This record gives sequence, C-alpha cells and structure tokens, in this order.
Amino acid sequence: MSETPILKPTASALADAASLLQSGDVVAMPTETVYGLAASLWSEAGLMRIFTSKERPQFDPLIVHLSTEMAANPKLMAELVNFETLSPSWKKQVAVLTAAFWPGPLTLVLPKTAKVPDLATSGLATIALRVPAHPVAQALIQAAGAPLAAPSANRFGRISPTTAQAVFEELVGRIPLILDGGPCEVGLESTVLGWDQAGRPQILRPGQISATELAAVLGCEVLEATLHPAEIQAPGMLKNHYAPLKPLFLLPPDWQPGQVLPENPAGLLNPSPQAGYLLLAGEPQALSGQLNGPIFTLSPHGERDLCARHLFAALRSLDASEADYLWAELPPESTGLGHAIANRLRKAAGV
Ligand code: TXA
Ligand code: MG
Repeated sequence: MSETPILKPTASALADAASLLQSGDVVAMPTETVYGLAASLWSEAGLMRIFTSKERPQFDPLIVHLSTEMAANPKLMAELVNFETLSPSWKKQVAVLTAAFWPGPLTLVLPKTAKVPDLATSGLATIALRVPAHPVAQALIQAAGAPLAAPSANRFGRISPTTAQAVFEELVGRIPLILDGGPCEVGLESTVLGWDQAGRPQILRPGQISATELAAVLGCEVLEATLHPAEIQAPGMLKNHYAPLKPLFLLPPDWQPGQVLPENPAGLLNPSPQAGYLLLAGEPQALSGQLNGPIFTLSPHGERDLCARHLFAALRSLDASEADYLWAELPPESTGLGHAIANRLRKAAGV
C-alpha cells in the first residue's frame, strides 16, 4: 500500500477494485461531483477503513452510492429505506425526485432500516442515498455487487479532491487503489436533501441541483437549512470544512483589483507575508499587474458551472503556491450554484 497505484478504469482494474471492496478494503473512485473513498456497505471492516484512512470522526455519516440497477430494484431499496414510515405524499416526492435527478448529484436522506449498519450512518435513524452519474462509479458499484458507502476521498476537514492526483496527495500510502476517471465535471459535492419534522423538504448541503430546481419538480417550497445555521443538522454543515492549510479570507463584497486590502490579515509573524488570490472571473495575466501574488481565476467570465468545477483544484494549487495566506472572491448569490460555491468558500474561511 505504500505505493497506492492510480489506475485507468480498464476491465482488469475494475475487477481488482471490486475484489478489494468485497474483501473489506477501500478504493478511491471518480464520481461526477468529487472523488469518493468507497467501501461496501455490508463490510464493517471496509467501513472502519474509510474512517481510519481519512482520519474521519465517526460522528460524520457517510453517503451510500447505488448503481442505477440497484436504485430500480424495490427489494434492495426496501432493505435500505424504511418505506413503511413514509407518508404517501413523502413517498410520491421521493419517486418524483429520483425520476428527475438520478443518476446525478442529488443525495436523499431517508429513514433507514435496521439492516443498514450504524457505522455508515453514525447511529442516525436515516440513510443518505445517491446514484452517481459517472460511468466508472456505476461500473464499480455493479462489479462490487453492493451499495458503496463513500465520503469524499480527502483527509477529514481538508479540500475535496476533483482529480485522481489530488486523491493521491491526500491518501497515498493509506489506501490500496485509486481509479482514475479524469477530472470531475461538477466539482462540488452533491446537493443533500432531507425532510424536516413537519415533512417539508429541506436542503442540508447546497450543490449543483438548486432549491429552485427541486421546488419546480416537487411543486412545493424547498427550504435551505444552510441559510439558518442556528441548528447544525448535518455534520457537513460544520464550519471549517474544506479548509486549505493556509489562512483564507473573503474579499470585501464590492472589491476591485487594485483596491487596497489589509496587508497581514492573519497576523502572521512573517512581517511582509505574500497574498494569493482566488477570483471568479478573468485572465490571471490581465490581473497580475495589479496584484502581487499568485492568482487563480475560476472561469473566463464568471460562469458558475466552471467556477464550481475548478474551485477545489484552485484551492489546492494556491495551498501549494508561494502565498502565505489567501484572499477569495465570494459569489454574491443566495441561491443556485453561486450559493453552493459561497457555502464552500465560507467553510474554507471558517466564517
Ligand atoms: O458528491 C458527494 O456527495 C460526494 C461523492 C463522493 O459522492 N460525497 C460526499 O461525502 O460528499 P461526504 O462524506 O464528504 O459528505 C457526507 C455528508 C455528511 O457530512 C452530511 O452532511 C451528509 O452528507 N449526510 C450523510 N448522511 C446523512 C444523514 N443520515 N443525515 C444528514 N446528513 C447526512
Ligand atoms: Mg467531504
């Protein structure tokens, strides 16, 4: 394991990965959102390995990944979800959502059965389920023949990986295999949707699929629990997730390149620390005259899909750059993908 190979998803690599999972080990797999560290839901040893290799505390529940075939199999679904406790309208909402958004970046939190191991759900009465759209994830789940519990394949609290190389940097020597499915298209973790006490759907973690899109399909309002962080309902709502190692600060809302910023906001001991910049739009070359540090721009014109796709890789690059601390531009939106990006940046800044 000291080597941790990165393998293209050939038939033989997939067979190796599936047999590792079946024997109670972990494998890093690509999904369309971020890379996941997978183990069979039915292997206690595998689930334990997820927590130990990520140094993840056991109070943080895992998302369980299904193949399209598994999600369409009522017998298997009934082994995972306690459908008896769902009202008819709740069941209907689940059916409508899965028809519209699976496979894809939507995770549903539903009452679990006794068969689902507590280790996967941190003892919660619910299970988080998702059907990833990435063909390599689909192939791996089918080959393993079991639902795969998979958190993002990074060490706990660190930046989520969107390339096989980023997984390698996080987990080399700790896991036996990384499947390389190329860079992740979405770049942010899935939208997590649950239901509150009153049976109303609410977003527990924002992602590419927005409250507006969900509401349009459901024909009812979808709450954004993350807008009211008074009560932390999902551990992913904790501040200071996705943190780069370097101190990260949010740029003032109407800041323009060239405008003066505090020189040492982190109070670093180094008397003239170097800043790095994460901006939403533009050509880094065009800005480099006005800013004196490494600059990463996430898209040519602020396109939010591109910003999301490049966010975590840019944070990693800035973390590895000569900058001592980082400034990041926050998308101002309170809905949609811009809101999801802002959510990750606020967590990285710990505010
Ligand atoms: O896009 C994704 O969802 C990625 C890829 C790999 O599929 N996975 C991912 O897993 O982001 P992870 O472990 O980094 O995020 C799991 C989060 C938890 O921190 C929590 O916020 C939420 O999903 N979650 C899981 N189970 C839950 C439950 N039973 N109730 C509430 N939230 C839950
Ligand atoms: Mg994560």
